[in-house]
Amino acid sequence: MSRVQSEKWRSKLMSAQDAAALIKPGANVGVSGFTGSGYPKVVPVALAELIKAAHDRGEDFKVGLFTGASTAPELDGALAQVDGISVRMPYQSDPDMRNRVNAGDSVYVDAHLSHSGPQVMAGHYGKLDVAIIELTAITADERLIPSSSVGNNVSWIQAADAVILEVNAWQDAGLEGMHDIWYGVALPPDRVPIPITSAGQRIGQAYYDIPFEKVVAIVETDSADRNTPFKPLDDDSKKIANFYLDFLTNEVNHGRLPKNLLPLQSGVGNIANAVLSGLLDSPFEQLTSYTEVIQDGMVDLIDSGKLIAASATAFSLSPEYAEKMNANAANYAKSIVLRQQDISNHPEPIRRMGVLSCNGLIEADIYGNVNSTHIMGSRMQNGIGGSGDFTRNAYISAFVTPSVAKGGQISAIVPMVSHHDHTEHDVHVVITEQGIADIRGMAPQQRAKTIIENCAHPDYKEQLWDYFNRAVASANSQHTPHVLRESLDFHIRFLETGTMKA
Ligand code: COA
Repeated sequence: MSRVQSEKWRSKLMSAQDAAALIKPGANVGVSGFTGSGYPKVVPVALAELIKAAHDRGEDFKVGLFTGASTAPELDGALAQVDGISVRMPYQSDPDMRNRVNAGDSVYVDAHLSHSGPQVMAGHYGKLDVAIIELTAITADERLIPSSSVGNNVSWIQAADAVILEVNAWQDAGLEGMHDIWYGVALPPDRVPIPITSAGQRIGQAYYDIPFEKVVAIVETDSADRNTPFKPLDDDSKKIANFYLDFLTNEVNHGRLPKNLLPLQSGVGNIANAVLSGLLDSPFEQLTSYTEVIQDGMVDLIDSGKLIAASATAFSLSPEYAEKMNANAANYAKSIVLRQQDISNHPEPIRRMGVLSCNGLIEADIYGNVNSTHIMGSRMQNGIGGSGDFTRNAYISAFVTPSVAKGGQISAIVPMVSHHDHTEHDVHVVITEQGIADIRGMAPQQRAKTIIENCAHPDYKEQLWDYFNRAVASANSQHTPHVLRESLDFHIRFLETGTMKA
């Protein structure tokens, strides 16, 4: 049975090719999609074919592409392969897209996820011409049911001149009721308090409002979300997860956190998932989560009864767990709330509820500054995503990382970060498989000693101590001692010799 159950809305059904043909060269396109969930699956592929045909005829054809966050090969990948993207915002992790950004073929604005929708609404990127939004269903009584991510959809629907809908029958109809769409978000001076005081609270409605006349096409699809499997947990990931859990236990034992902790935020990737798996065997109960994405580990925690409420903007599940969610979405909707990303990542509820953040990094320096985005200072990896939204506003902000990268040739702990995403003022705890540096309440030199001693890999400890001791001996200030000429020597050595080792 078709998921477009309203006869009135069925009048707008057409093919992906006809829908894509409505998008003109130079258009700004806002699409649904967040960490490989809920992105449009066929119109972008048809658009990529039109772009390729135009390029073959020698014509210019690129579009501005704005999403919730990362998408999938059928979207970022397809459009990047045909060099069809002029401007990309706010987050990507697709290999083809990344190469276009680093080759200078596409301009990339790496924006805080909570800022991205409001910035488009405010017109910083020009006019938004088209929104392409995936839905689970259009009901007979004309309710528009969101799919596996909400992301920036509300902003795109409001800002765009025209809306194309993809209605995906692969998404479980039981998703209806899981979403919380709040129409109180506005630009200053019209902002009002966001009335969220607990992670699982619902403050809005379970469907989108889209003016019928704005919708120029509806396309039916039936394909799975991207959903990449997590790597099996390696020993280092388990060690890192255990250090974080020990830290939380210690906070509870000292009366600094309640027994059921505070709402947990967990970044993307395998280590974050390992932390969630560790919580399964921990003594913590009645947990809640106010985060960006629901990962496999969180589904296990819900199944076990340990996690009673989870708020996010999207799923980021392995194929196995996506099937599990799809088989039982109506039941999971009792404990999961999917919100728009300018609410899931908004500083106000994060600060109010005292969220505990935990994110990955590329490198941290001895003073606690963090680079989440750039390899060797220049090459974009993914983007800041929601890490800044959570880190800056968390009650306790932790970063987790292996102490080395590239088979040990690169130290993740360096004298000075080669690119700066999170400042020393916002970073409270750094954890590697070597240990944990709780740098709350510490001045720069104390932080440096703690991070080098507890977190650096043995292969790099001596070099880092040597740098720090020489900085203390020779710097013109004892506040944050650096030998500026040498501070990036680690990176230069890697670029020249392929290893940071002395
Ligand atoms: N120097 C050079 N390369 C490095 C490096 C370093 N210090 N640290 C990691 N890398 C490379 C890895 O070798 C790997 O390269 P490859 O793809 O060629 O194999 C790549 O960077 C990714 O590293 P990996 O260890 O697989 O990363 P991860 O899955 O643990 O993710 C981040 C780490 C920082 C990339 C990821 O957490 C991220 O994108 N963070 C920013 C966004 C974010 O935090 N979102 C969540 C907020 S809610």
